[in-house]
Amino acid sequence: MRELENRVAVVTGGASGIGASTAKRLAEMGAAVALADVNARGAGEVAAVIRQAGGNAVAVEVDVRRPEQNAALIERVLKEYGRLDIAFANAGIAEAATPLEEVPEELIDQLLSINVRGVVSLAKAVAPTLKNQRSGVFVATASTAGVRPRPGLQVYSATKGAVIAFVRALALEWAPFGVRACAVSPVATDTPMLPQFRAAAGSASADADAITESFRRTVPLGRLAQAEDIAEAVCFLVSDRARMMTGTILDVDGGRNI
Ligand SMILES: NC(=O)c1ccc[n+]([C@@H]2O[C@H](COP(=O)([O-])OP(=O)(O)OC[C@H]3O[C@@H](n4cnc5c(N)ncnc54)[C@H](O)[C@@H]3O)[C@@H](O)[C@H]2O)c1
Repeated sequence: MRELENRVAVVTGGASGIGASTAKRLAEMGAAVALADVNARGAGEVAAVIRQAGGNAVAVEVDVRRPEQNAALIERVLKEYGRLDIAFANAGIAEAATPLEEVPEELIDQLLSINVRGVVSLAKAVAPTLKNQRSGVFVATASTAGVRPRPGLQVYSATKGAVIAFVRALALEWAPFGVRACAVSPVATDTPMLPQFRAAAGSASADADAITESFRRTVPLGRLAQAEDIAEAVCFLVSDRARMMTGTILDVDGGRNI
């Protein structure tokens, strides 16, 4: 029997990058996966790839900023699959490297509402189910930025620091129910998000290749992370092999956080 056979997972940000890769890996390990994303078409494409490979996947259009959409997602999953075991709160957006005084107010709101409130909101939506069944794992995508920030990414870094504190608090709150909460902290990862961290157009460091190279140089293992590297860590955290781990913030960083 495959390791995650009969488990049901929800992955936000499942249309792209780390979410898509993790969803595929969870499905390979036997889990049924609901891919939630504001990009419904992209989520549908990833779900189709999973089904073609013999897996079980559905795509659901969800804006994680909207608590009622997160609640509806969980309702739908419970209706379709009858249970929920794994919630991966991964959807997020980047910030172009910018001096704080030039960061637009709307971007600050977006970063906080997607990267922080979206995670909180998904956790709130899954809490009754996981606590009642007295099992389950919640994993969020934090970032090395949450503990080892880079200049110009101050609001993004703050959102990831918040995710780390939130997951650790949740781990304590849910431990009496046998429900675990962890996070992964990826270093710069080769996904469509990566070039979005470059400085605003027109500035000296706006070149996407240059920013990618500057990130790579700061990783002791000498390369960017691939989405599959992060997926492996998430799949470990949600498996029974990690049964004694809660509140764990797992660095997948090639040594960057040292
Ligand atoms: N790529 C990196 O270098 C890196 C490093 C550390 C952490 N992260 C984090 O990893 C997570 C995944 O990022 P990625 O690199 O795979 O990026 P990505 O851009 O490839 O994927 C992000 C996904 O989130 C979705 N999304 C954005 N806003 C949403 C919303 N409001 N509701 C629902 N879905 C929404 C997007 O449509 C997209 O499919 C993010 O939380 C990001 O902050 C990324």
